[in-house]
Amino acid sequence: MGLITKAPRGTLDKLPGEIHKYQHIEGLAREISGRYGYREIRTPVFEHTELFKRSVGDTTDIVQKEMYTFDDKKGRSLTLKPEGTASAARAAIESGLINDALPLKLCYITNCYRYEAPQSGRYREFTQFGAEVYGANTPTCDVELIALAYDLFTRLRIPDERYKIEINSIGCPECRAEYQKALREYYVGFADKLCGDCHERLNRNPMRLLDCKVPNCGQFKENAPTILDYNCDPCREFFAGFKSGLDSLDIPYTVNARIVRGLDYYTNTVFEFVAKDNGLVFGAGGRYNGLIKELGGNATAASGFALGIERIISLPEAVFPPPETPDIYIAGLGEAAGSLALKLVQGLRGAGVWAECDIVGRSVKAQMRYADKIGARFSVVIGDNEVESKTAVVKNMQTKETREVALDSFNLMKAILPFE
Ligand code: HAM
Repeated sequence: MGLITKAPRGTLDKLPGEIHKYQHIEGLAREISGRYGYREIRTPVFEHTELFKRSVGDTTDIVQKEMYTFDDKKGRSLTLKPEGTASAARAAIESGLINDALPLKLCYITNCYRYEAPQSGRYREFTQFGAEVYGANTPTCDVELIALAYDLFTRLRIPDERYKIEINSIGCPECRAEYQKALREYYVGFADKLCGDCHERLNRNPMRLLDCKVPNCGQFKENAPTILDYNCDPCREFFAGFKSGLDSLDIPYTVNARIVRGLDYYTNTVFEFVAKDNGLVFGAGGRYNGLIKELGGNATAASGFALGIERIISLPEAVFPPPETPDIYIAGLGEAAGSLALKLVQGLRGAGVWAECDIVGRSVKAQMRYADKIGARFSVVIGDNEVESKTAVVKNMQTKETREVALDSFNLMKAILPFE
Protein backbone atom coordinates (compact mmCIF):
# COMPACT_ATOMS: atom_id res chain seq x y z
CA MET A 1 0.00 0.00 0.00
CA GLY A 2 1.30 3.47 -0.81
CA LEU A 3 2.45 5.79 1.95
CA ILE A 4 -0.42 8.22 1.50
CA THR A 5 -3.05 5.60 2.27
CA LYS A 6 -1.27 4.23 5.32
CA ALA A 7 -1.32 5.87 8.74
CA PRO A 8 2.13 6.54 10.24
CA ARG A 9 3.52 3.65 12.28
CA GLY A 10 2.27 3.56 15.85
CA THR A 11 -0.81 5.73 15.18
CA LEU A 12 -4.44 4.71 15.29
CA ASP A 13 -7.38 5.94 13.26
CA LYS A 14 -10.39 6.11 15.53
CA LEU A 15 -13.14 5.12 13.13
CA PRO A 16 -16.91 5.64 13.54
CA GLY A 17 -17.34 2.00 14.66
CA GLU A 18 -15.00 2.57 17.63
CA ILE A 19 -15.40 6.25 18.38
CA HIS A 20 -18.34 5.75 20.74
CA LYS A 21 -15.94 4.06 23.17
CA TYR A 22 -13.70 7.13 23.26
CA GLN A 23 -16.73 9.40 23.58
CA HIS A 24 -18.10 7.27 26.40
CA ILE A 25 -14.85 7.33 28.40
CA GLU A 26 -14.27 11.00 27.71
CA GLY A 27 -17.87 11.87 28.64
CA LEU A 28 -17.63 9.93 31.90
CA ALA A 29 -14.19 11.40 32.64
CA ARG A 30 -15.52 14.94 32.21
CA GLU A 31 -18.67 14.22 34.20
CA ILE A 32 -16.85 12.59 37.11
CA SER A 33 -14.04 15.18 37.14
CA GLY A 34 -16.71 17.88 37.33
CA ARG A 35 -18.22 16.30 40.42
CA TYR A 36 -14.81 16.27 42.10
CA GLY A 37 -14.22 19.91 41.18
CA TYR A 38 -11.61 19.39 38.44
CA ARG A 39 -12.01 21.97 35.67
CA GLU A 40 -10.87 21.19 32.15
CA ILE A 41 -7.78 22.77 30.63
CA ARG A 42 -6.58 22.49 27.00
CA THR A 43 -2.96 23.23 26.23
CA PRO A 44 -1.07 23.35 22.91
CA VAL A 45 -0.06 20.14 21.22
CA PHE A 46 3.56 21.34 21.25
CA GLU A 47 5.61 23.15 23.87
CA HIS A 48 9.15 24.46 24.20
CA THR A 49 11.43 21.42 24.39
CA GLU A 50 13.04 22.82 27.52
CA LEU A 51 9.76 22.37 29.44
CA PHE A 52 9.94 18.59 29.15
CA LYS A 53 13.68 18.45 29.79
CA ARG A 54 13.16 20.36 33.02
CA SER A 55 10.08 18.47 34.18
CA VAL A 56 10.09 14.91 32.87
CA GLY A 57 13.88 14.89 33.31
CA ASP A 58 16.99 14.92 31.13
CA THR A 59 17.96 11.36 31.94
CA THR A 60 14.57 9.72 31.36
CA ASP A 61 13.86 7.51 28.34
CA ILE A 62 11.06 9.88 27.35
CA VAL A 63 13.41 12.86 26.99
CA GLN A 64 16.43 10.95 25.75
CA LYS A 65 14.78 8.68 23.20
CA GLU A 66 11.08 9.23 22.71
CA MET A 67 10.31 12.88 22.04
CA TYR A 68 9.14 14.26 18.71
CA THR A 69 11.33 17.35 18.66
CA PHE A 70 11.74 19.81 15.80
CA ASP A 71 12.91 23.34 15.11
CA ASP A 72 10.32 25.80 13.86
CA LYS A 73 11.11 28.27 11.08
CA LYS A 74 12.69 30.65 13.58
CA GLY A 75 14.93 27.91 14.94
CA ARG A 76 13.03 27.44 18.24
CA SER A 77 13.13 23.89 19.53
CA LEU A 78 9.61 22.58 20.04
CA THR A 79 8.36 19.17 21.13
CA LEU A 80 5.02 17.40 20.72
CA LYS A 81 3.65 16.77 24.23
CA PRO A 82 4.84 13.37 25.48
CA GLU A 83 2.49 13.76 28.49
CA GLY A 84 0.09 16.28 29.99
CA THR A 85 1.46 17.17 33.43
CA ALA A 86 4.23 19.55 32.36
CA SER A 87 1.94 21.53 30.03
CA ALA A 88 -0.82 21.81 32.63
CA ALA A 89 1.71 23.04 35.21
CA ARG A 90 3.21 25.52 32.74
CA ALA A 91 -0.25 26.88 31.87
CA ALA A 92 -1.27 27.10 35.55
CA ILE A 93 1.86 29.17 36.27
CA GLU A 94 1.66 31.32 33.14
CA SER A 95 -2.04 32.15 33.60
CA GLY A 96 -1.61 32.95 37.30
CA LEU A 97 -4.28 30.34 38.18
CA ILE A 98 -1.76 28.78 40.52
CA ASN A 99 -1.75 31.97 42.64
CA ASP A 100 -5.55 32.07 42.84
CA ALA A 101 -7.79 29.95 45.04
CA LEU A 102 -5.85 26.86 46.10
CA PRO A 103 -6.18 23.96 45.84
CA LEU A 104 -6.47 24.35 42.10
CA LYS A 105 -7.88 21.24 40.41
CA LEU A 106 -7.46 20.79 36.66
CA CYS A 107 -8.17 17.95 34.26
CA TYR A 108 -7.46 17.38 30.59
CA ILE A 109 -7.95 15.01 27.69
CA THR A 110 -5.04 15.36 25.35
CA ASN A 111 -3.13 13.64 22.58
CA CYS A 112 0.43 12.67 23.52
CA TYR A 113 3.36 11.62 21.36
CA ARG A 114 6.21 9.27 22.17
CA TYR A 115 8.56 7.64 19.70
CA GLU A 116 8.33 4.16 21.24
CA ALA A 117 8.50 0.73 19.61
CA PRO A 118 4.83 0.18 18.74
CA GLN A 119 3.17 -2.92 20.17
CA SER A 120 -0.20 -3.85 21.61
CA GLY A 121 -1.25 -0.95 23.87
CA ARG A 122 1.82 1.11 23.01
CA TYR A 123 1.39 3.79 20.38
CA ARG A 124 3.31 6.79 19.12
CA GLU A 125 0.19 8.93 19.33
CA PHE A 126 -2.14 8.19 22.23
CA THR A 127 -4.69 9.95 24.42
CA GLN A 128 -4.38 10.72 28.10
CA PHE A 129 -7.11 11.73 30.50
CA GLY A 130 -5.31 13.43 33.37
CA ALA A 131 -6.21 15.15 36.63
CA GLU A 132 -3.85 17.42 38.57
CA VAL A 133 -4.14 19.21 41.92
CA TYR A 134 -1.95 22.13 42.99
CA GLY A 135 -1.58 23.47 46.52
CA ALA A 136 -2.59 20.44 48.61
CA ASN A 137 0.26 18.65 50.32
CA THR A 138 -1.85 16.03 52.10
CA PRO A 139 -2.48 12.30 51.80
CA THR A 140 -6.20 13.15 51.45
CA CYS A 141 -5.47 14.89 48.17
CA ASP A 142 -3.80 11.73 46.81
CA VAL A 143 -6.71 9.63 48.09
CA GLU A 144 -9.15 11.90 46.25
CA LEU A 145 -7.22 11.45 43.01
CA ILE A 146 -7.31 7.67 43.33
CA ALA A 147 -11.01 7.85 44.23
CA LEU A 148 -11.71 9.80 41.03
CA ALA A 149 -9.95 7.21 38.85
CA TYR A 150 -11.59 4.35 40.78
CA ASP A 151 -15.00 5.97 40.24
CA LEU A 152 -14.34 6.06 36.50
CA PHE A 153 -13.27 2.40 36.39
CA THR A 154 -16.39 1.47 38.36
CA ARG A 155 -18.63 3.38 35.95
CA LEU A 156 -16.91 1.50 33.11
CA ARG A 157 -17.88 -1.71 34.95
CA ILE A 158 -14.26 -2.87 35.27
CA PRO A 159 -14.46 -5.22 38.26
CA ASP A 160 -12.01 -4.69 41.15
CA GLU A 161 -10.72 -8.25 40.68
CA ARG A 162 -9.43 -7.52 37.16
CA TYR A 163 -6.89 -4.85 38.04
CA LYS A 164 -4.60 -3.70 40.80
CA ILE A 165 -3.98 -0.27 42.23
CA GLU A 166 -0.30 -0.47 43.10
CA ILE A 167 1.09 2.21 45.36
CA ASN A 168 4.48 3.21 46.68
CA SER A 169 6.31 6.16 48.21
CA ILE A 170 9.54 7.34 46.64
CA GLY A 171 10.16 9.77 49.51
CA CYS A 172 11.28 13.38 49.55
CA PRO A 173 14.51 14.69 47.95
CA GLU A 174 16.35 14.24 51.27
CA CYS A 175 15.59 10.58 51.95
CA ARG A 176 15.73 9.80 48.24
CA ALA A 177 19.35 11.01 48.19
CA GLU A 178 20.16 8.26 50.71
CA TYR A 179 18.38 5.73 48.55
CA GLN A 180 20.18 6.88 45.39
CA LYS A 181 23.45 6.43 47.27
CA ALA A 182 22.53 2.88 48.28
CA LEU A 183 21.37 2.11 44.74
CA ARG A 184 24.63 3.40 43.27
CA GLU A 185 26.66 1.30 45.73
CA TYR A 186 24.64 -1.77 44.80
CA TYR A 187 24.90 -1.27 41.02
CA VAL A 188 28.59 -0.34 41.01
CA GLY A 189 29.26 -4.02 41.70
CA PHE A 190 27.74 -4.89 38.28
CA ALA A 191 29.00 -1.86 36.39
CA ASP A 192 30.88 -3.91 33.78
CA LYS A 193 27.69 -5.85 32.95
CA LEU A 194 25.43 -2.81 32.43
CA CYS A 195 24.44 -1.29 29.07
CA GLY A 196 25.90 2.07 27.94
CA ASP A 197 22.79 4.01 29.01
CA CYS A 198 22.89 2.43 32.47
CA HIS A 199 26.52 3.50 32.89
CA GLU A 200 25.40 7.06 32.45
CA ARG A 201 22.37 6.51 34.73
CA LEU A 202 24.72 5.18 37.40
CA ASN A 203 26.50 8.53 37.47
CA ARG A 204 23.65 10.91 36.79
CA ASN A 205 20.44 9.38 38.13
CA PRO A 206 20.69 5.88 39.66
CA MET A 207 16.90 5.54 40.08
CA ARG A 208 16.56 5.41 36.30
CA LEU A 209 18.59 2.15 36.41
CA LEU A 210 15.37 0.52 37.56
CA ASP A 211 13.56 1.55 34.32
CA CYS A 212 16.08 -0.02 31.92
CA LYS A 213 14.29 -2.21 29.40
CA VAL A 214 17.45 -4.12 28.33
CA PRO A 215 16.86 -7.69 29.64
CA ASN A 216 20.45 -8.10 30.83
CA CYS A 217 20.21 -4.98 33.00
CA GLY A 218 16.74 -5.97 34.25
CA GLN A 219 18.10 -9.01 36.10
CA PHE A 220 19.79 -6.78 38.72
CA LYS A 221 16.54 -5.11 39.76
CA GLU A 222 15.44 -8.13 41.77
CA ASN A 223 17.89 -7.68 44.64
CA ALA A 224 18.30 -3.91 44.43
CA PRO A 225 17.54 -1.94 47.61
CA THR A 226 13.91 -0.78 47.80
CA ILE A 227 12.93 2.82 48.35
CA LEU A 228 10.41 2.18 51.14
CA ASP A 229 13.27 1.08 53.39
CA TYR A 230 14.80 4.54 52.98
CA ASN A 231 11.70 6.71 53.56
CA CYS A 232 12.28 9.22 56.39
CA ASP A 233 9.74 9.52 59.24
CA PRO A 234 7.61 12.32 57.73
CA CYS A 235 7.48 10.41 54.40
CA ARG A 236 6.47 7.20 56.20
CA GLU A 237 3.75 9.09 58.02
CA PHE A 238 2.49 10.60 54.77
CA PHE A 239 2.35 7.16 53.15
CA ALA A 240 0.54 5.68 56.18
CA GLY A 241 -2.04 8.49 55.91
CA PHE A 242 -2.50 7.74 52.22
CA LYS A 243 -3.09 4.05 52.89
CA SER A 244 -5.55 4.65 55.71
CA GLY A 245 -7.46 7.12 53.52
CA LEU A 246 -7.82 4.46 50.82
CA ASP A 247 -8.90 1.95 53.50
CA SER A 248 -11.55 4.32 54.77
CA LEU A 249 -13.07 4.53 51.27
CA ASP A 250 -12.77 0.74 50.77
CA ILE A 251 -10.56 1.23 47.74
CA PRO A 252 -8.43 -1.91 47.32
CA TYR A 253 -4.69 -1.45 46.73
CA THR A 254 -1.37 -3.27 46.98
CA VAL A 255 1.97 -1.79 48.02
CA ASN A 256 4.62 -2.39 45.39
CA ALA A 257 7.95 -1.07 46.62
CA ARG A 258 9.43 -1.49 43.12
CA ILE A 259 7.39 1.29 41.49
CA VAL A 260 9.69 4.24 40.84
CA ARG A 261 7.99 5.68 37.70
CA GLY A 262 9.79 6.69 34.52
CA LEU A 263 9.54 10.46 35.01
CA ASP A 264 11.77 12.49 37.31
CA TYR A 265 9.35 14.92 38.90
CA TYR A 266 7.79 12.60 41.49
CA THR A 267 8.04 12.92 45.29
CA ASN A 268 6.35 10.75 47.94
CA THR A 269 3.22 9.05 46.58
CA VAL A 270 3.41 7.12 43.30
CA PHE A 271 0.87 4.67 41.92
CA GLU A 272 -0.04 2.61 38.88
CA PHE A 273 -3.26 0.98 37.66
CA VAL A 274 -2.31 -2.44 36.33
CA ALA A 275 -4.47 -4.99 34.46
CA LYS A 276 -4.12 -8.38 36.15
CA ASP A 277 -4.44 -10.42 32.94
CA ASN A 278 -1.47 -9.04 31.04
CA GLY A 279 0.26 -6.60 33.39
CA LEU A 280 -0.71 -3.64 31.17
CA VAL A 281 -0.31 -0.35 33.05
CA PHE A 282 -3.34 1.66 31.95
CA GLY A 283 -2.82 4.63 34.22
CA ALA A 284 -0.33 6.08 36.63
CA GLY A 285 0.57 9.11 38.65
CA GLY A 286 1.79 10.53 41.89
CA ARG A 287 2.89 13.58 43.82
CA TYR A 288 5.34 16.10 42.39
CA ASN A 289 5.96 18.72 45.05
CA GLY A 290 9.07 20.18 43.43
CA LEU A 291 7.88 20.74 39.87
CA ILE A 292 6.09 24.08 40.11
CA LYS A 293 9.14 25.75 41.67
CA GLU A 294 11.42 24.02 39.16
CA LEU A 295 9.36 25.59 36.36
CA GLY A 296 9.59 29.06 37.86
CA GLY A 297 6.40 29.26 39.96
CA ASN A 298 6.14 29.73 43.74
CA ALA A 299 6.86 26.51 45.63
CA THR A 300 3.51 24.69 45.42
CA ALA A 301 2.79 21.05 46.20
CA ALA A 302 1.14 19.10 43.38
CA SER A 303 -0.21 15.65 42.61
CA GLY A 304 -2.03 13.95 39.75
CA PHE A 305 -2.50 11.02 37.43
CA ALA A 306 -3.02 10.23 33.77
CA LEU A 307 -4.88 7.31 32.20
CA GLY A 308 -4.19 5.96 28.72
CA ILE A 309 -7.58 5.99 27.00
CA GLU A 310 -6.54 3.51 24.27
CA ARG A 311 -5.32 1.13 26.98
CA ILE A 312 -8.59 1.37 28.93
CA ILE A 313 -10.52 0.61 25.75
CA SER A 314 -8.34 -2.47 25.22
CA LEU A 315 -9.35 -3.91 28.62
CA PRO A 316 -11.71 -6.78 27.81
CA GLU A 317 -13.81 -6.04 30.90
CA ALA A 318 -14.64 -2.44 30.09
CA VAL A 319 -18.31 -2.14 29.13
CA PHE A 320 -19.43 0.38 26.53
CA PRO A 321 -22.93 1.20 25.39
CA PRO A 322 -23.51 0.15 21.77
CA PRO A 323 -22.71 2.69 19.04
CA GLU A 324 -25.60 4.97 18.23
CA THR A 325 -27.53 4.41 15.01
CA PRO A 326 -30.18 6.60 13.32
CA ASP A 327 -33.55 6.62 15.04
CA ILE A 328 -35.50 6.79 11.80
CA TYR A 329 -35.09 6.81 8.02
CA ILE A 330 -37.82 8.47 5.97
CA ALA A 331 -37.80 7.26 2.37
CA GLY A 332 -39.59 9.29 -0.27
CA LEU A 333 -40.96 8.24 -3.65
CA GLY A 334 -41.37 11.14 -6.02
CA GLU A 335 -40.77 14.84 -5.71
CA ALA A 336 -43.62 15.81 -3.34
CA ALA A 337 -42.84 12.88 -1.02
CA GLY A 338 -39.09 13.62 -1.10
CA SER A 339 -39.67 17.20 -0.11
CA LEU A 340 -42.07 16.17 2.70
CA ALA A 341 -39.49 13.61 3.91
CA LEU A 342 -36.86 16.36 4.11
CA LYS A 343 -39.23 18.60 6.05
CA LEU A 344 -40.18 15.85 8.51
CA VAL A 345 -36.52 14.91 9.03
CA GLN A 346 -35.68 18.53 9.71
CA GLY A 347 -38.46 18.76 12.32
CA LEU A 348 -37.36 15.54 14.00
CA ARG A 349 -33.71 16.66 14.12
CA GLY A 350 -34.81 19.90 15.73
CA ALA A 351 -36.56 17.80 18.40
CA GLY A 352 -33.38 15.85 19.14
CA VAL A 353 -34.05 12.76 17.01
CA TRP A 354 -31.40 11.29 14.68
CA ALA A 355 -33.39 11.24 11.43
CA GLU A 356 -32.20 10.57 7.87
CA CYS A 357 -33.69 10.87 4.39
CA ASP A 358 -32.41 10.53 0.85
CA ILE A 359 -29.93 13.18 -0.32
CA VAL A 360 -28.66 11.24 -3.35
CA GLY A 361 -31.79 10.80 -5.50
CA ARG A 362 -32.03 7.02 -5.14
CA SER A 363 -34.96 4.66 -5.76
CA VAL A 364 -37.06 3.69 -2.72
CA LYS A 365 -35.54 0.21 -2.83
CA ALA A 366 -31.99 1.62 -2.72
CA GLN A 367 -33.01 4.04 0.04
CA MET A 368 -34.30 1.15 2.16
CA ARG A 369 -31.12 -0.86 1.56
CA TYR A 370 -29.14 2.12 2.79
CA ALA A 371 -31.45 2.53 5.82
CA ASP A 372 -30.74 -1.09 6.68
CA LYS A 373 -26.97 -0.68 6.24
CA ILE A 374 -26.72 2.32 8.53
CA GLY A 375 -28.79 0.51 11.15
CA ALA A 376 -31.85 2.80 11.24
CA ARG A 377 -34.15 1.61 14.04
CA PHE A 378 -37.37 2.69 12.30
CA SER A 379 -38.33 3.49 8.73
CA VAL A 380 -41.20 5.15 6.90
CA VAL A 381 -41.90 5.13 3.17
CA ILE A 382 -43.78 8.10 1.80
CA GLY A 383 -45.39 8.17 -1.65
CA ASP A 384 -48.15 10.24 -3.22
CA ASN A 385 -50.84 8.39 -1.18
CA GLU A 386 -49.13 9.23 2.08
CA VAL A 387 -48.67 12.85 1.04
CA GLU A 388 -52.39 12.95 0.30
CA SER A 389 -53.66 11.15 3.40
CA LYS A 390 -51.08 12.73 5.74
CA THR A 391 -50.60 9.34 7.37
CA ALA A 392 -47.93 6.67 6.92
CA VAL A 393 -46.74 3.34 8.29
CA VAL A 394 -43.77 3.36 10.66
CA LYS A 395 -41.82 0.11 10.70
CA ASN A 396 -39.58 -1.17 13.46
CA MET A 397 -36.65 -2.45 11.42
CA GLN A 398 -35.74 -5.10 13.96
CA THR A 399 -39.07 -6.59 15.01
CA LYS A 400 -40.76 -5.69 11.68
CA GLU A 401 -43.76 -4.42 13.67
CA THR A 402 -45.67 -1.62 11.96
CA ARG A 403 -47.90 1.17 13.12
CA GLU A 404 -49.90 3.78 11.22
CA VAL A 405 -49.30 7.35 12.36
CA ALA A 406 -50.18 10.88 11.36
CA LEU A 407 -47.38 12.31 9.21
CA ASP A 408 -45.98 15.06 11.38
CA SER A 409 -42.79 15.28 13.39
CA PHE A 410 -44.52 15.05 16.74
CA ASN A 411 -46.46 11.87 15.96
CA LEU A 412 -43.45 10.25 14.30
CA MET A 413 -41.43 11.02 17.41
CA LYS A 414 -44.11 9.51 19.64
CA ALA A 415 -44.09 6.35 17.52
CA ILE A 416 -40.37 5.73 17.70
CA LEU A 417 -39.20 6.99 21.08
CA PRO A 418 -39.92 4.88 24.11
CA PHE A 419 -42.02 7.01 26.45
CA GLU A 420 -41.83 5.40 29.88
P1 HAM B 1 3.01 7.81 32.28
O1 HAM B 1 3.06 6.61 33.15
O2 HAM B 1 4.19 8.08 31.43
O3 HAM B 1 2.71 9.03 33.23
O4 HAM B 1 1.74 7.73 31.34
C1 HAM B 1 0.43 7.62 31.89
C2 HAM B 1 -0.39 6.65 31.08
O5 HAM B 1 -0.38 7.02 29.70
C3 HAM B 1 0.17 5.23 31.06
O6 HAM B 1 -0.22 4.52 32.23
C4 HAM B 1 -0.48 4.66 29.83
O7 HAM B 1 -1.78 4.25 30.11
C5 HAM B 1 -0.50 5.85 28.90
N1 HAM B 1 0.62 5.74 27.96
C6 HAM B 1 1.90 6.12 28.14
N2 HAM B 1 2.64 5.85 27.05
C7 HAM B 1 1.80 5.29 26.16
C8 HAM B 1 1.94 4.80 24.82
N3 HAM B 1 3.10 4.85 24.18
N4 HAM B 1 0.86 4.28 24.20
C9 HAM B 1 -0.35 4.23 24.83
N5 HAM B 1 -0.55 4.69 26.08
C10 HAM B 1 0.50 5.21 26.73
C11 HAM B 1 2.53 10.31 32.78
O8 HAM B 1 2.43 10.62 31.63
C12 HAM B 1 2.33 11.30 33.90
N6 HAM B 1 2.15 12.62 33.29
C13 HAM B 1 1.16 10.92 34.79
C14 HAM B 1 0.92 11.94 35.85
C15 HAM B 1 -0.03 12.91 35.85
N7 HAM B 1 1.61 12.06 36.96
C16 HAM B 1 1.15 13.08 37.66
N8 HAM B 1 0.16 13.61 36.99
